[in-house]
Amino acid sequence: MADITPGRKLTPEQAKTIDEFYRHLMGAKRIMTYYNCAMLETETKFKVLNYQFSLEQARNPIESIKTRLKSFESISEKLLRRGLPLTVESLEANLNDVAGVRVICPFVDDIYTIAECFLAQDDITLINATDYIKNPKENGYRSLHLIIEIPIYLQKEKRMMRVEVQLRTIAMDFWASLEHKMHYKKEIPESIAKELRDELRVCADDIAGLDVRMEKLRAKIEEAKNGN
Ligand code: GTP
Ligand code: MG
Repeated sequence: MADITPGRKLTPEQAKTIDEFYRHLMGAKRIMTYYNCAMLETETKFKVLNYQFSLEQARNPIESIKTRLKSFESISEKLLRRGLPLTVESLEANLNDVAGVRVICPFVDDIYTIAECFLAQDDITLINATDYIKNPKENGYRSLHLIIEIPIYLQKEKRMMRVEVQLRTIAMDFWASLEHKMHYKKEIPESIAKELRDELRVCADDIAGLDVRMEKLRAKIEEAKNGN
């Protein structure tokens, strides 16, 4: 029952409406808390992998981790755009990116090493993988995307929750962050927007070239250290 200001007289209809509203709010709060827990569990797994790798090698394969919960505004906008019902059930069934974890790695090979170790864990279920590194998007976007399910343990039940994991290098993140900030898609005439898209694509390819060069430099340094 909703917590109503003491002494306030409500009609039965008002009380029913408030109760329904309260139930909706509590349902939304509950599901977002579950997604938050799943996001934390996922983040911790990557942190543990990073600690373990740094014991074996003298460097960290993860540079940083960012997490974000999708806002109510973005959730509603996405459900509406796809013509889906605006309910908690529909949100759980249809959206894979309510909980997001972004893992930034120094080098491209770190991404695959870390992703492989993460997916090998027996409580992680891979739902879908999209490799935008091997197959970049038309605009040059690169990252490895994994949709996974991870269990969260509640008072009396275990619940499987979906999380979107994006793995990228520092260089890929640099491009994606700046591209995301440039709201060139909407307000700009198509002729200029096309020019900008082409230029962004060239930047993305240049940046990918830098990733390859940095990886080669690292290999040379390791070779030199080992006295080869
Ligand atoms: P969304 O409906 O946006 O979630 O896309 P989707 O379900 O088709 O999945 P996709 O793998 O294309 O994108 C998921 C997420 O990857 C986005 O929400 C962004 O965080 C990121 N992403 C994908 N494409 C781009 C891009 O071109 N630029 C940037 N900056 N980020 C992108
Ligand atoms: Mg998304």
